[in-house]
Amino acid sequence: MLAFTALLIIAVNLGHVLASPVQVALQAPNTKPRRLHGRFLQITDMHPDPYYAARTSEKTSCHRKKGKKANNRAGYYGTPFSDCDSPFRLTNFTLDFLNKKWASEVDFVIWTGDNARHDSDPKLPRTPDEIYSLNRAVTSKMKEVFTSKGIPVVPSLGNNDVWPHNIMTPGPNRITNEFSQIWETFIPFPYHQVFQRGAYFSVEVIPNKVAAISLNTMYFYDSNKAVGGCGFKDPSDPGNLQLDWLEVQLNGYRSRDMQVWITGHVPPSPGNYFPDCYVRYVELSLRFQDTVLGHLFGHMNADHFAFVEAIDLEFTTEDSGNKKKYVSLYHTLLNEYSAIPTKAKDLDYGNYAVINIAPPVVPNPYLPSFRIFSYNVTGTEDGMRRPKTTGKRRHGHRRGDHGNKEAHCRSKSKRNTWKCFLNETWYSDAESPSRSNKQWTPLGYAQYYLPDLEDANKTHRPRFKLEYLTFAPRLLHPPPTADGAGGEFHYPIPLQHLPAGLRDSRVMESRYAPYEMADLTIPSWVELAQKLGDAKYRKLRRRFRKYMYMGGEEG
Ligand SMILES: *[C@@H]1O[C@H](CO)[C@@H](O)[C@H](O)[C@H]1NC(C)=O
Ligand SMILES: *[C@@H]1O[C@H](CO)[C@@H](O)[C@H](O)[C@H]1NC(C)=O
Ligand SMILES: *[C@@H]1O[C@H](CO)[C@@H](O)[C@H](O)[C@H]1NC(C)=O
Ligand SMILES: *[C@@H]1O[C@H](CO)[C@@H](O)[C@H](O)[C@H]1NC(C)=O
Repeated sequence: MLAFTALLIIAVNLGHVLASPVQVALQAPNTKPRRLHGRFLQITDMHPDPYYAARTSEKTSCHRKKGKKANNRAGYYGTPFSDCDSPFRLTNFTLDFLNKKWASEVDFVIWTGDNARHDSDPKLPRTPDEIYSLNRAVTSKMKEVFTSKGIPVVPSLGNNDVWPHNIMTPGPNRITNEFSQIWETFIPFPYHQVFQRGAYFSVEVIPNKVAAISLNTMYFYDSNKAVGGCGFKDPSDPGNLQLDWLEVQLNGYRSRDMQVWITGHVPPSPGNYFPDCYVRYVELSLRFQDTVLGHLFGHMNADHFAFVEAIDLEFTTEDSGNKKKYVSLYHTLLNEYSAIPTKAKDLDYGNYAVINIAPPVVPNPYLPSFRIFSYNVTGTEDGMRRPKTTGKRRHGHRRGDHGNKEAHCRSKSKRNTWKCFLNETWYSDAESPSRSNKQWTPLGYAQYYLPDLEDANKTHRPRFKLEYLTFAPRLLHPPPTADGAGGEFHYPIPLQHLPAGLRDSRVMESRYAPYEMADLTIPSWVELAQKLGDAKYRKLRRRFRKYMYMGGEEG
């Protein structure tokens, strides 16, 4: 009887545990291990606009009036190279396409924000309710396409997902409340509380192996006048709290030998972030270089990559804040790339982290696109087993002039800035997946776009095409093996998603593959940047610029 009672209690408790949302939401909604495809999707900046109407004038944000000339008339699926947002038809078209063609090929989805229209029409100002309902609509579609198939989706908050745009006060507030409901399925239960406070969380997209951290970049973005910008003397600033949290996350994942993608909307750069938020972000990126696979962002609308660098943690003469004249993003990037040392002895990869900025779905100001990353699932973890000792191996990179820094840090104006206080040991390791190709290392990406949006109409749908990929073409096909005994080849991009010129391993057209990168490790990005920084590589620069603006002009 006693045994029976005990059993009953256990059964009841078990039933309770199983029925409780904790178990369901603790990790990715599916519990059975999935076969990994070694690919994930990044989609960003969809900007659906409920007022968009075909054939209206571009000057009214594609809301009203008949467009006079063909070239300022709103298109049926969207208006390429314009200031207009997306018709919901384009959002649906894109997600329906991904559902049909890609959902069965990817392991998780990184979704980096801005799912409401811009506030560009003074006659139709946005309201908070409209923003939330647009986000609800896109979320429900994302759930239908991905979550229902057990594919984890990791959303992050964009500067147009809040009202007024760019402004977000410290949480909890209406925004964190609304999004904790809208994204409830995506946020693992243990993070609900921290989400209520700051709208950031993390997800183990491959349980116990790989996590994706979704940051709320609104607390770092210097257009947000409702926060303090990570001031050293302001420990309760929401940017500081978030970076404290990020540090705890990275330490936790590192101690579990896991790898991490850091994701968010507004990319870290000296131009986007408050100076002290930027410094802390750079320091964490470099300190945890052995744990972070990469940094995935959106917002900029122009396809590019940038580095955060150890030099960002030093005081330099540029800190004096002189207003410089405007230089285009393209030329700024070339300048940055050309500053990277080209001699191996001057180059320490421990001083760099790569920020990847994906272009948007909205054809404002270019063309709709999405990105498929491929990563190494066949490799082993050998060589990345970190020594469990603490404090023995020091990977400290203290660049720059110490005396100089100390002098700066004695001065009244600089004494209380983060630069003077970040002195932790860095975990950088040439054997980590961010530095050399092994399990979980990103191998490359394929960029898809809609080049024929202009010609699309009611009867003639646009078609997604490959714009370019980072891979060397030969990596898309099995290596020619002498004895024919090579194991099962893992296609980084399924053949049916390659254009004819790449599908056939005998042709391997280089038109789509100008970068020929071996993988997406830090050394591979540095190598590409060194080439782009060198004026000799004129053709490569032209390609890079073309992809940035999708054949158009800087918008
Ligand atoms: C978009 O798709 C959703 C369902 O997936 C549907 O309810 C909605 O009407 C569609 N909108 C348009 C404009 O096609
Ligand atoms: C994956 O990593 C292993 C090393 O662990 C390497 O041998 C292999 O070539 C990598 N796979 C790809 C497709 O690059
Ligand atoms: C490191 O910085 C902390 C403050 O963040 C300070 O208390 C400590 O003394 C510093 N340690 C060294 C070795 O500079
Ligand atoms: C739609 O576009 C196609 C190709 O651009 C064109 O042949 C066709 O006449 C167009 N149909 C309408 C209804 O405009």
